[in-house]
Amino acid sequence: MIKNICCIGAGYVGGPTMAIIAQKCPNIKVTVVDLNEERIAAWNDADVSNIPIYEPGLSEIVAESRGRNLFFSTEVDKAIDEAEMIFISVNTPTKTYGVGKGMAADLKYIELCARQIARVAKTNKIVVEKSTLPVRTASAIKDILDHTGNGVKFQILSNPEFLAEGTAVEDLLAPDRVLIGGDSSNEGQQAVQLLVDVYSNWVPKDKILTTNVWSSELSKLTANAFLAQRVSSINAMSELCEKTGADVNEVAKAIGMDSRIGSKFLKSSVGFGGSCFQKDILNLVYIAQSYGLNEVADYWEQVIIMNDHQKRRFAKNIIKTLYNTVSGKKIAFLGWAFKKDTNDTRESAAIYVADYLLSEQAKISVYDPKVNEKQILFDLDYLESRNESDNKSGVSVLENPYKVCENAHAIAVLTEWDEFKTYDWQKIYDSMLKPAFIFDGRNLLNKEKLEKIGFVYQSIGS
Ligand code: NAD
Ligand code: UGA
Repeated sequence: MIKNICCIGAGYVGGPTMAIIAQKCPNIKVTVVDLNEERIAAWNDADVSNIPIYEPGLSEIVAESRGRNLFFSTEVDKAIDEAEMIFISVNTPTKTYGVGKGMAADLKYIELCARQIARVAKTNKIVVEKSTLPVRTASAIKDILDHTGNGVKFQILSNPEFLAEGTAVEDLLAPDRVLIGGDSSNEGQQAVQLLVDVYSNWVPKDKILTTNVWSSELSKLTANAFLAQRVSSINAMSELCEKTGADVNEVAKAIGMDSRIGSKFLKSSVGFGGSCFQKDILNLVYIAQSYGLNEVADYWEQVIIMNDHQKRRFAKNIIKTLYNTVSGKKIAFLGWAFKKDTNDTRESAAIYVADYLLSEQAKISVYDPKVNEKQILFDLDYLESRNESDNKSGVSVLENPYKVCENAHAIAVLTEWDEFKTYDWQKIYDSMLKPAFIFDGRNLLNKEKLEKIGFVYQSIGS
């Protein structure tokens, strides 16, 4: 039985996943390590509401186990040395340089972890790929680990994570499945069994699926590609709905009732965001290209092309509707996070819509219940198309949504936060310039109610 787990990477996956393992396996000591001192300090903050990741229910779970069998630390070597099982949960962003730039996954953080484990380990270890990785990455990790020459034996498992942000706790507590890929050798199967035993503390056995390593690695990219494809598919129909008088919500409901299609992931929107869909599909496209499978690559790339089109289309429509110019006009953004119930803004559609409108000299005022000004300016400054001083003068971030909408020409809803539905919309209308426009990028608000107040309301796909 495993008694000591280390997880390298205290991010959106490492933090919540290990918090649940620690909660459900009180006999296992779980240490989450990261190079980022600020992040670790936040995980250790005496006030547990200051942990660095906002997820409903997470701070309570961390409070329960932290200091008992859950630890956050920057002492990576020590944690590796002590652990029998090491999860690698570091980031695998899209490469921004060299071969595969803009497509392939950058595996330098993974390789650094492997080299660090190889250098530090004095006893046999099971190394678990938790990060999302290109198929066959395990063989590169194994190569590095097997050349230490110090006699330590390593088993590499693939155990991709399927949680979605905003629902991480419920996804981890009751996963649709846990996937574990391992080597077919006796030692490989023993390692698989040890990880199965960890999850069996709370996940029913029939939901723990074991496969070979390559199937497990590729299943993760495939799952994200299929999910993103559904969003792009319904978004493609949203444009056709707008031209034909059909309503995309009605279409989604009608097709979702077909049990072969299913009702989930059919919400038309301003476009999907998040740290993974785009990154993982680009990676899939790159892998297919590298095997010479051009039709396969082109097929999946279209999911990204459609998503980029949807974000651009939303911004262009705002400009067209506001009499073909937004120069000097105030546009209020409700929401900046890539979806509700998270403070994560990576690849959020809001960033790209803002970029487009700012380049047309709009003034943008933003309110998001969980994202602060520093993060919003950081997201914009990061874009090659923008510079810091223009962002500072073009964007204001306020903690009061009513102030954000005051004297605005239009409101753009970019995130589906529940609280937006509860606002005093009459009060907001009264404070805006007329005609007062709402561009609802999430089909969140009540059209009839808003039109009755006097708003010009536009949703996606109707
Ligand atoms: P993240 O950026 O939030 O966290 C990664 C952490 O790893 C960072 O805090 C970073 O400082 C740390 N790190 C990097 N190199 C390190 C090293 N050598 N030693 C110690 N720490 C190091 O990333 P994330 O969102 O948690 O994603 C991690 C992986 O999980 C990615 O491969 C991602 O594709 C995958 N994934 C993410 C989600 C999600 O919802 N975010 C869901 C499923 C899978
Ligand atoms: C997604 C997957 O759902 C997870 O299973 C996976 O583990 C994770 O990626 C990952 O690998 O990182 P996440 O990106 O956190 O999770 O959130 P989703 O709920 O999938 O939403 C992604 C984006 O699609 C959001 O911008 C969301 O608003 C958008 N979306 C989702 C839609 O526009 N319409 C929908 O019907 C569903």
